[in-house]
Amino acid sequence: MTQTAGKTALVTGASRGIGAAIARRLAADGVLVAVHFGRRKADAEETVASIERSGGQAFAIRADFAADGALDTLFSELEAGLAGRPLNILVNNAAVYADPDDRAATQADSYVAGISEVTPEEFDRIFTVNVRAAFFVTQRSLPLLADGGRVINISSAVTRIAWPLLPYAMSKGALEIMAPRLANELGHRGITVNTIAPGITDDTETNSWLHHVPGAAEGVAAMTALRRLGRPSDIADVVALLASDEARWVTGQLVDASGGMALAPTPPGA
Ligand SMILES: NC(=O)c1ccc[n+]([C@@H]2O[C@H](COP(=O)([O-])OP(=O)(O)OC[C@H]3O[C@@H](n4cnc5c(N)ncnc54)[C@H](OP(=O)(O)O)[C@@H]3O)[C@@H](O)[C@H]2O)c1
Repeated sequence: MTQTAGKTALVTGASRGIGAAIARRLAADGVLVAVHFGRRKADAEETVASIERSGGQAFAIRADFAADGALDTLFSELEAGLAGRPLNILVNNAAVYADPDDRAATQADSYVAGISEVTPEEFDRIFTVNVRAAFFVTQRSLPLLADGGRVINISSAVTRIAWPLLPYAMSKGALEIMAPRLANELGHRGITVNTIAPGITDDTETNSWLHHVPGAAEGVAAMTALRRLGRPSDIADVVALLASDEARWVTGQLVDASGGMALAPTPPGA
């Protein structure tokens, strides 16, 4: 166990993928974790159950960030679960890549959502979940957040690499603006605010195309300096580091966790 043992965390979007890995990692470090989810109750319950099977502590809380009143529900359930304890770690991880009601938008063959295909409704939903929710979850967390606490936002390498999904990339650009400014505002309380930018990460639903499209997994691995696909645990370990006391002097920063994706242009003929 690390010095995060005995602390508490809220991880948004922890029902599956990277968020679930973050929740499991923090719980393994002895943190009581609020596992937030939007729609997939069974997945969130499985994340909680897997934490408990490993001897950790967690509870699931639901809030659909696209719905009115979501934060009231979130914070009443969070406060009930914390039972008077402060919040030490907030991880803003929940995000959507495209409109989840538009199933076609998440299929590999139409993953390249160009500007002409994006509707105003889809654009608004992406910004509502990825930016607005992260902002107001953070705002509402402040009275609960202990001095010396941590705010960690999960962005993406798409702000650095011109990958498709334009509104998603723009939303992550907006999210990245938060850390340096909020770090400055909250620094007097010893609270650090940082951003982690994962690259393309395997074992997440959005990247199932890695295993459908011939050559995709090898091609993506070849784009990284470390020559492999990212795993959710690669990101979770960086969250655990930033959440720990060892990272107390790191704030307002963007930490790339992509295995060195696209550090150089692909040479001609490669
Ligand atoms: N996967 C990658 O390669 C990759 C790369 C770079 C950055 N990232 C970032 O890493 C984070 C996690 O990505 P992921 O691929 O693991 O995500 P994911 O598997 O698609 O899971 C998304 C999470 O967000 C929640 N969520 C979605 N819409 C919501 C809403 N309206 N209200 C509340 N919660 C909602 C989901 O809850 P439900 O399960 O209940 O729907 C789920 O827990 C995201 O911020 C993403 O942008 C991912």
